[in-house]
Amino acid sequence: MNPKIAIIPGSNRSASLNRLVANETMRILARTDASVAFLDLADYPLPIYDGDEESGQGIPENASLLARQLMRQDALLLISPEYNRSIPPLLKNTIDWVSRVRKIDGRPVQPFKGLVVGLASASPGRFGGSNGLEALRLVMRALGSEVLTTQCSVANASDAFDAKGALIDDHARLSLEALCESLVDVSRSLSRTAYTD
Ligand SMILES: Cc1cc2nc3c(=O)[nH]c(=O)nc-3n(C[C@H](O)[C@H](O)[C@H](O)COP(=O)(O)O)c2cc1C
Repeated sequence: MNPKIAIIPGSNRSASLNRLVANETMRILARTDASVAFLDLADYPLPIYDGDEESGQGIPENASLLARQLMRQDALLLISPEYNRSIPPLLKNTIDWVSRVRKIDGRPVQPFKGLVVGLASASPGRFGGSNGLEALRLVMRALGSEVLTTQCSVANASDAFDAKGALIDDHARLSLEALCESLVDVSRSLSRTAYTD
């Protein structure tokens, strides 16, 4: 069974270091039998979560579309910067909206429950955004995801890539490869789509 893995970068910035990590991850996963979907949050703009909007107009279509995409996956790799040692609003707001999707085509769903989740980050700083991953880990666990212990933080990320965007920091590369390997192995054994396709 080929594991199905989605990748979501937590930054839409055009020169985003985390998007470079996501691109590198795509290249690593292309050497496995996983089928990989790159979900770009720029394609799913959402308003800031507002309970009145939810009860008045319902859940925005983009949140439902993302939830539908996630329900097709065994695993999700979140690759995100940290803002003030926590989760950047783009990613947290998206997670919050998607967590409110409870039905797809009339069928009850919990988009993050049982999803194998891997965490990675990049920062120009020396901790590579690892503090933000602790915050993200708590959130994803609360939503019922199986969060991998293995994670990857690319420190000093402004110097970790060559001019073509390839990850040239050996330590970071090994760490990212270990995360991808773990993600493929665990999502294969905990597949939540194996019996639904
Ligand atoms: C509001 C804000 C808060 C930030 N807080 C942190 C932080 O706590 N730790 C850190 O290492 N970098 C922090 N940074 C710097 C980001 O790591 C850096 O801008 C990074 O390049 C953003 O990720 P991106 O390149 O993928 O967009 C912060 C940046 C912003 C805009």
